Amino acid sequence: MQTPEFRPEFRYEKLGYAALNVTDLDRSIHFYRDLVGLDLVARDEATACLRCGSDHHNLVLHKAAEAGIARAAFKMAAPADLDAAFASFVTAGLAPEWVGDAECAALRQGASFRVREPNSGLLIECYERMTHMALPFVPAFANIVRIGHVVVATPAYEQAVDMLRGPFNFALSDFVDGKFSWMRCFPNPLHHTFAIGRSDRSHLHHVNFMVSDIDDIGKTVTRMRDAGVPIVFGPGRHLPSTSIFLYFLDPDGMTIEFSFGMELIDEHGGRAPRMLEMHPRTMDIWGSAPDPRFGQGGRIEAPGRA
Ligand SMILES: [Fe+2]
Repeated sequence: MQTPEFRPEFRYEKLGYAALNVTDLDRSIHFYRDLVGLDLVARDEATACLRCGSDHHNLVLHKAAEAGIARAAFKMAAPADLDAAFASFVTAGLAPEWVGDAECAALRQGASFRVREPNSGLLIECYERMTHMALPFVPAFANIVRIGHVVVATPAYEQAVDMLRGPFNFALSDFVDGKFSWMRCFPNPLHHTFAIGRSDRSHLHHVNFMVSDIDDIGKTVTRMRDAGVPIVFGPGRHLPSTSIFLYFLDPDGMTIEFSFGMELIDEHGGRAPRMLEMHPRTMDIWGSAPDPRFGQGGRIEAPGRA
């Protein structure tokens, strides 16, 4: 795996939110608000916005016929980075499109555009700002500090990795050769804000929320078990990021993760990516094994959804 020479001249701040398609909006609001512990900020018949911090939303739910991921959205480091990123994607031939004023207003966002990663089919959104909420997020069950990362899988794995490390300006943190890559939205130091794996079909793998205390992991095991929510992997500890993790299924069978702790890799002088062994202990050094449903539910939304 080669290190790309080319790095576009725009900077991300962070992963801002994920937009998921769900088949029963009320059922999913109940799950994400009353079991995951996100704060419901706004909803209508078709859409719900939930948060885990001062942002207006860190998760958007769209009512849809089929469950999956509609987009992953990244906040840029500065407004000028939004224009630089747009120009960079145009140069790369990826045809980014500005989001209309009405939708930006509905999302309580400033200027935003969307661009599709053509190999996985995932729609990526870049935005300059989002409404900062007046009242703080009050954790209901778990001290969720941020949306941590989005992971997808695709048959066109190598091409997608090259695209993400090139025009999308993601930095590689670790990889399992030919199988899986963990990436940072440059120059955000979190070990991964995005990851991609090889699969025989393009699909969502999981969406992660980071918590601030190991007790949040333990308490969530109990809360999910009591509610009959399938726990599909963990609790365990990932080798690549050193995170302690717990994966469970949302009502549509999409995999959601809580994790505690993550390595930080500095923009300047951070370590080189490691090539990790394809071994069960890479995914869990404590030795547990995933349920077959782990990371399987949810398609990547194709172009054309109204
Ligand atoms: Fe994860």
